[in-house]
Amino acid sequence: MQIRDILKNNPLVLAPMAGITDFPFRRICKELGAGLVFSEMVSVEALIREHKRTHGMLRTDSAERPVVFQIFGSKPASMAEAAHIVSQGEVDFIDINMGCPVPKILKSGAGAALLRDLGLAKEIMAAVVGASKVPVLVKIRLGWDAKSIVAVDLAQAAAAAGIAAVTVHARTKAQGFSGHADWGMIKVVKKSVGIPVIGNGDVRSGQDAKRMLDETGCDGVMIARAIQGYPWIFREAKQYLETGLVQAQPSPEERQAVMLRHLNDMVKLLGEYAGVREMRKHLCWYTKGLHGGAEFRTTINHLVTVKEVTREIEEYFVGLRESVATAQQASFC
Ligand SMILES: Cc1cc2nc3c(=O)[nH]c(=O)nc-3n(C[C@H](O)[C@H](O)[C@H](O)COP(=O)(O)O)c2cc1C
Repeated sequence: MQIRDILKNNPLVLAPMAGITDFPFRRICKELGAGLVFSEMVSVEALIREHKRTHGMLRTDSAERPVVFQIFGSKPASMAEAAHIVSQGEVDFIDINMGCPVPKILKSGAGAALLRDLGLAKEIMAAVVGASKVPVLVKIRLGWDAKSIVAVDLAQAAAAAGIAAVTVHARTKAQGFSGHADWGMIKVVKKSVGIPVIGNGDVRSGQDAKRMLDETGCDGVMIARAIQGYPWIFREAKQYLETGLVQAQPSPEERQAVMLRHLNDMVKLLGEYAGVREMRKHLCWYTKGLHGGAEFRTTINHLVTVKEVTREIEEYFVGLRESVATAQQASFC
C-alpha cells in the first residue's frame, strides 16, 4: 500500500521515540487508532555488527502493520547495508533520522547533524533508496538553527532522491523540544513538494490534529510526547477527525486492562527482569494526574516481579474506583 493511501485512510501517526515506541507499545497505539506507527531509532552501525539487542528492536507483528523502522547513521554505505537488512524483515517502510539533537548522535555525524551537510544528506538518501526493498521516508527538523533553515531544500532533495514521504518536526535543532513548533513552515514545505508531508510538533489532542491538517494542508499528523501514558489519544483524535465529537476519557477498567496488557507483552519481549524495569516509566506515565498516582509510583519503582507489579496495579485501581464512587455519591448529596 502506498504511503499516500495509508495517510488518506487515517492520518494519525505514532512518532519514533527512543525507549518508548517498541513493539508492545506500538501495537497498543495501533489498536487504539494510530494509522501508521514508527519504531524507535535503530543504530545502523549496531545493526551491521549484529548487535543482539538491536536486532531485538526489529521485532514486529502483523497486527501493528503498516510499520516504519527508523534508522540513524552518517555513512552512506553503512546506511545502505542496514536498509538492506531491515527491509528484508516484516516492515513496510524505512525512515531516515535527520532530526535527533542528542549530543552523542550529533558527534557521530548522524541525526540533526545532517541538517548542516545537505551534500551528505543527499548521498545518504540516494544510498538508502537504492538499497532498500521497501519505500523510504525521511524525518527532518526545520534546520540547525533559526539562521539556517533548510527544510524546503532538504524536502525537495528528498523528493528528487526517490523518498516516498517527509516528516517535518517544525523546530530547529537549536530549539530542542522547547518553544513552539512553527506549523507555518509545515505548510511551506507541503507547498514545495509533491510527495506526502507528515507534520509534527505540539499535537496534544484531536482538535490539535485537525487544526494542523487544516492549517498546513499536511497529509499526516505525527504525535510524540502526548502519547506517553496516554495511547488513547489516537482513539480520541480519530473520533474527533471523523465526527467532530470529543470522546470521554478511558474508564479505570480500561486503563487497568491496557497497563496489564502492556506489562505482560513487555515481559514476553524482554523477560521478567528487564521487562518489569522497562515498564516502570510507562506505569508512572499511565497514572500521571490520577488520584493516588503519586503513592503508586513510589511503590512500583521498587517492585521486581510481574506478580508483585500486577497485584499493585490491581489494588491501585480498586482504590481508584472506590474514590470515584465516593466522589459521585458526594455530588448527589
Ligand atoms: C523521549 C523522546 C524520544 C524520541 N526519540 C526519537 C527517535 O528515536 N527518533 C526521532 O526521529 N525522533 C525522536 N523523538 C522526537 C519525536 O519523534 C518528535 O519529533 C518530537 O517529540 C516532537 O513531537 P511532539 O511535540 O508531538 O512531542 C523523540 C522525542 C522524545 C521526547
